[in-house]
Amino acid sequence: MSDARREIPLSIPVVSGNEQEYVAECLDAAWLSTAGAFITRFEDAICAFTGSKFAVACQSGTAAIHVMLRVAGVDRDDEVIVPALTFIATVNPVAYLGAHPVFVDCDDFMNMDPDSVAAFLEDECERAADGRIVNRATGRRVAAIVPVHVFGNPCAIEPLEALAREWGLPLVEDAAESLGASWTDGAFAGRHTGTVGLAGCLSFNGNKIITTGGGGMVITDDEQSARRVRHLTTQAKADPVRFVHDEVGYNYRMTNVQAALGVAQLETLAERIERKHRNHGLYAALLADLPGIEILGTPPGTAPNYWFYSALVEPSVFGMDRERLMSGLAERGIQTRPVWQLNNRQEPYLQERSCATPRAQWFWDRVLNLPCTHTLSVGDIEFVCGAIRELGDR
Ligand SMILES: Cc1ncc(COP(=O)(O)O)c(C=O)c1O
Repeated sequence: MSDARREIPLSIPVVSGNEQEYVAECLDAAWLSTAGAFITRFEDAICAFTGSKFAVACQSGTAAIHVMLRVAGVDRDDEVIVPALTFIATVNPVAYLGAHPVFVDCDDFMNMDPDSVAAFLEDECERAADGRIVNRATGRRVAAIVPVHVFGNPCAIEPLEALAREWGLPLVEDAAESLGASWTDGAFAGRHTGTVGLAGCLSFNGNKIITTGGGGMVITDDEQSARRVRHLTTQAKADPVRFVHDEVGYNYRMTNVQAALGVAQLETLAERIERKHRNHGLYAALLADLPGIEILGTPPGTAPNYWFYSALVEPSVFGMDRERLMSGLAERGIQTRPVWQLNNRQEPYLQERSCATPRAQWFWDRVLNLPCTHTLSVGDIEFVCGAIRELGDR
């Protein structure tokens, strides 16, 4: 094949283990729906892997966040502290509950900035006589903090956990992108993302490090929360035989077929992370001497899962802006993507409170995510880096 063009997608699902065998087991037994042995097996395997005590498999990461925020006590007209820089699925569940997001800035790794959270709480909120935290300007109760481990980099959990404790707010971790990532230093050394807050929410969407086609999971050490999530994700059945329901629930449970895929994919996770780690190093090494391009590093004291690789494009130095680089790479068959539009600029959230977000804006101007499927060959990565270099030389 000529090296003028190679089709290299950003991130695609890879089926490389026991998926066929496990799904065939479901089909043979006709256990297809939201009950079956693979669901429990997948939940148990995620618990064993992350060290979480309980896990409840859901239809999607978005569903997991929605139901968990409700269980954490978020209610109509409350406010929830969320990052401006994250996929919109972190924020939409806040709106599903009739609550309001408050957007905060990010740190040097695109994760929720604890200083931005502290400034909002200290400068704009007060503790009411009944113990609720109230936003003085809106009069609304602040009900939760939702940090995200963006692109698989564990967030600055120590200060965020300390703030949540100090203000008595539940911390619900959006760990949709970070299965397999953990902290290696500090108070939470050895803990997986999603296991420090009241709960963590995982996603097994098609582009994630492992996939069930679509799916998610709530992980928590809190038995009461796990029980409530299980109840609400299965239509809040109080008596399944007589169809008695004791509150408004959801049809949010994962199917056995999805869970069968999940069990098989999880068996290959360690190998995926190892290859992604190697490929991150390769990108960084191959582009190290190219002025105006930098591969975002990883936060100290963490072991990320290296889900996505973000190139930071400095147009004045590189000689080309991020948009033109993206089109130039697309002409060579290489799929890349900018980071998400900031949520404080998304149409549904223009009226919501946002703290200043200069760092999020800085990343939004520069990030171009490069192909990251773990099966990329050394040759593929050399091709991508060669194309970037060639475009910069023009
Ligand atoms: C940060 C983040 N939060 C939430 C989600 C939602 O997960 P899902 O697509 O499974 O609903 C995703 C992924 O899609 C995500 O990347």
